[in-house]
Amino acid sequence: MIAITRPVSPKMADCQLTYQERQPIDIALATQQHSDYEDALKRLGCQIVQAPMEPELPDSVFVEDCAVVFDELAIITNPSAASRKPELDTIVEMLHPHRPLHFILPPGTLDGGDVLVIGKQIWIGLSGRSNQAAAEQVEALLQPHGYQVQAVEVKGCLHLKSAVSQVKTDTLLLNPAWVDAAHFEGFKIIETFPDEPHAANALMIGESVIYPVDYLLTAMLLADKGIELLLVDCSEVIKAEGGVTCCSLVFSGKRGS
Ligand code: GLY
Repeated sequence: MIAITRPVSPKMADCQLTYQERQPIDIALATQQHSDYEDALKRLGCQIVQAPMEPELPDSVFVEDCAVVFDELAIITNPSAASRKPELDTIVEMLHPHRPLHFILPPGTLDGGDVLVIGKQIWIGLSGRSNQAAAEQVEALLQPHGYQVQAVEVKGCLHLKSAVSQVKTDTLLLNPAWVDAAHFEGFKIIETFPDEPHAANALMIGESVIYPVDYLLTAMLLADKGIELLLVDCSEVIKAEGGVTCCSLVFSGKRGS
């Protein structure tokens, strides 16, 4: 597995915020936490490939939003937040050797945080950042490869993967206030602990899950269900309305057909 990451921008405190209040961000601590996160990815077998630092782009650590990589091709997104559009250029350069690239075009807007992929099923969050036109473009690109695409409404949070993520082959972690569990037929659902609405974002790699220690009650719930957790401290990216999936683009080094 390859994991593209990008160093924290010294201007991360000027990040986009949609649902959260602005709080001071400790950049040195964010940088240390990001390095620990990369170590967790390495422990799970990922080769880290760092994108160049983008000091002037506050949200640039959140590389997941720039692209979605499938075995057959990669989709370069089209963030609706103007400050995030320049993040795409270096990710295009980095993915070019790995996959044929396709681009979401206006009026489509898409952030990778709104795309949940499990096997050949794709859910696209209709959030403040991603729209139906983008979902239709994704479907046109991937249906020929056997994928099923479903657009789902998200309310109250930034991205679909703020509301739901995979924690086991057959199990999702989900906040029912933000997305309807009925969209995920056939999956077992673990609901986030009520006091931790932001706790649904987990990064599953193989059989393990990288998970924020910041959501201890939900972490204990997951551990009780036998889910193997690698806990990382994410306090600073959480203040920037980010999470564990946002900080990497993980994909197989092998290309499919
Ligand atoms: N701060 C993350 C985002 O709004 O994209």
